[in-house]
Amino acid sequence: MAAATAPAALGLSIFLVQLLLQGHKRKAFVNFAWLCNYLLVFFCFGCACLASECRMFYVRNNCPYPVWPATLGSPQLPQTGFLLQSSAAVPLAAPPRWSGRLWGRSLCSMDPSGRFSCATGDCGTGQLACDGAGGVPPATLTEFTLDGDDGNDYYDVSNVDGFNIPVMVTPLGGSGCRTASCAANMNALCPGELQVVSGGCVVACKSGCLAFGTDAYCCTAGFGSPESCKPTNYSVVFKSACPLARSYAYDNDGSALTCAGVDYLVDFCP
Ligand SMILES: *[C@@H]1O[C@H](CO)[C@@H](O)[C@H](O)[C@H]1NC(C)=O
Repeated sequence: MAAATAPAALGLSIFLVQLLLQGHKRKAFVNFAWLCNYLLVFFCFGCACLASECRMFYVRNNCPYPVWPATLGSPQLPQTGFLLQSSAAVPLAAPPRWSGRLWGRSLCSMDPSGRFSCATGDCGTGQLACDGAGGVPPATLTEFTLDGDDGNDYYDVSNVDGFNIPVMVTPLGGSGCRTASCAANMNALCPGELQVVSGGCVVACKSGCLAFGTDAYCCTAGFGSPESCKPTNYSVVFKSACPLARSYAYDNDGSALTCAGVDYLVDFCP
């Protein structure tokens, strides 16, 4: 909406000036066109950018259950949390150079006092919108940096903080752009000591780092470099199920991808 305010104001002022100056028919049509433009932009409350410069994320839910996607990014998108029913899809517009993450929340509900929360991926706001708050791990993350320093987009699917819902990121076009994904249901493959159980079901799977917090699992302290931080017995559980996702902090084994100038499809339960 911020990006849309200037052209909207410009459109309105030109419309008013033209209205004052003349009553000619052709110009009346121009006035009409400006008015349409103004109304279009003014009522575009969900827009993060002008159509011409937007990058689009098409978020689709193929899961047999509802997913409540959430976004956290810079700049913040108008949609930071929403419901996506099974089989539903929504477009999200992101401005140039947007960077951030999108993840799914599952098993969400509102308690009698009106407080909204989710069994996985919850952002703790008590509302549908995350409004600048991140998700509580474990959650499968999709991560994006659009228009990086070299002009490329960087993106991945990450299990560094664990897993909750299968997800796939597909670049729509581009040359040689690859798919990032964790399509397997890690909840069914999750070692007992990493399981998050709710209502008798495994609803999410922690990473080794999240479950045990050791430097070797988290790539911290003496393990804080790509050379010193190696795959662990827990990261390989994720890697073998989801080879196209990042399995630990310094995992750059084919899962950190680049593309340029495209839109992206984000599929839950691909
Ligand atoms: C991973 O390694 C730790 C430490 O050696 C061990 O306690 C644990 O049982 C192993 N877990 C699996 C799933 O291999």
